[in-house]
Amino acid sequence: MADDQREGVYGAPPAALAPTAPGAMQLSPLVPGSAAFETLADGALVRIAIAAPAGTLERRYTLAQALRTLAPGGRLTALAPKDKGGARIRGELEGFGCSVQETSKQHHRICAADRPDRVDGLDAAIAAGSSQSPPGLGLWSQPGVFSWDRVDPGSALLAAALPALAGAGADLGCGVGFLALKVLASPAVTRLALLDIDRRATQAAQRNIDDPRAAFAWADVRAWPAPDGLDFVVMNPPFHDGGAEDRALGQAFIRRAAQMLRKGGRCWLVANRHLPYEAVLAEAFAAVTPRADAGGYKVLEAER
Ligand SMILES: C[S@@+](CC[C@H](N)C(=O)[O-])C[C@H]1O[C@@H](n2cnc3c(N)ncnc32)[C@H](O)[C@@H]1O
Repeated sequence: MADDQREGVYGAPPAALAPTAPGAMQLSPLVPGSAAFETLADGALVRIAIAAPAGTLERRYTLAQALRTLAPGGRLTALAPKDKGGARIRGELEGFGCSVQETSKQHHRICAADRPDRVDGLDAAIAAGSSQSPPGLGLWSQPGVFSWDRVDPGSALLAAALPALAGAGADLGCGVGFLALKVLASPAVTRLALLDIDRRATQAAQRNIDDPRAAFAWADVRAWPAPDGLDFVVMNPPFHDGGAEDRALGQAFIRRAAQMLRKGGRCWLVANRHLPYEAVLAEAFAAVTPRADAGGYKVLEAER
C-alpha cells in the first residue's frame, strides 16, 4: 500500500478540527465507491480521522475497526457534536485501552489517541455492530442502517397500502429490502432495481432478497445513471442528510422518480405527514392520490 493510502478518513470530519490528507482513503459506507474497514488487514493504516456516528453500536463498531486497522503508534482522531455521541467518545476509547487527549471546539468533542500496543474489547464491539438479523426485524441488517432493528412504521403503512404491482420498477432508498420483498411478492413484477447510498443496506438487501428479478446498486440517487421507462417506483424517501433535516433530498427523490417513469407509470411513496412534498409532486406528476394516512404518515400514489 502506498504511503498516502495508509491514511484513512471516515465521513467528512470538518477540516478545521481534523485535517486529513487529500489522498486519504475514504472508509464510510455512506460514500459510494469507498473502501470498507472490513476488507483492511490489521495494522494496515497509520492515521485515521473519524466523523463518529451518533448511534452507540455503530460508533463503537467504527472506533473498534479503526483501532484494529491502525498500526501500533498510529494516530486516531475521532470527533462528533457533543450531543450526537461526541461526549461519549473519550470513555469509549479509554474502554478500549487508549489514553485520550480531548478538546472541545465548534460544539464538537475531538478525541485523539495513539493506538496502544494492547487494546481490549475490539472483537466484542465489532461483533455487536456487524451484520446481523435482529429478532424484531427478521431480516439481515446492521446498526447504522435506517431503522436497523425494526420495521419503520411509515414503510409498514406503505407496504400495507401497495397493490400488486406489475412490470419493471425501482425501489429508491431501498434500505435492507423490506419494501422490495413486498413488491417482489407480485409475480407480475418483471424487474426491480434496488438502490441505496448506504453500502451496508445494499449488502443486507442482497442477503435478504434471493430473486433473479432484483438488481442492486450502491449509489446516490441524485447521481445514479437511472433506468427510464419504468412502470413503477416505490420509496420512503429520506429527509435527514448528514443529520440535518433536508427536505430538498426528499424532493430530489421525487423528481428522480418522475424522470424514471414512463407516462402513466406510478410512484408510491410514504412520508411524514408534515413534509411539504405536494408542490414538487404536482410539478412532476399528472395526478396525486392520497392512499393512506395513519400514525403521522401519509401514503401517496402519483401518476406520471
Ligand atoms: C427512510 S429510509 C427507507 C428505507 C427502506 N426503503 C425502508 O422502507 O425501510 C431512506 C433510505 O434512503 C437512503 N438514502 C439516503 N440518501 C440517499 C441518497 N442520496 N441516494 C440513495 N439513497 C439514499 C438511506 O440510506 C435509507 O436507507
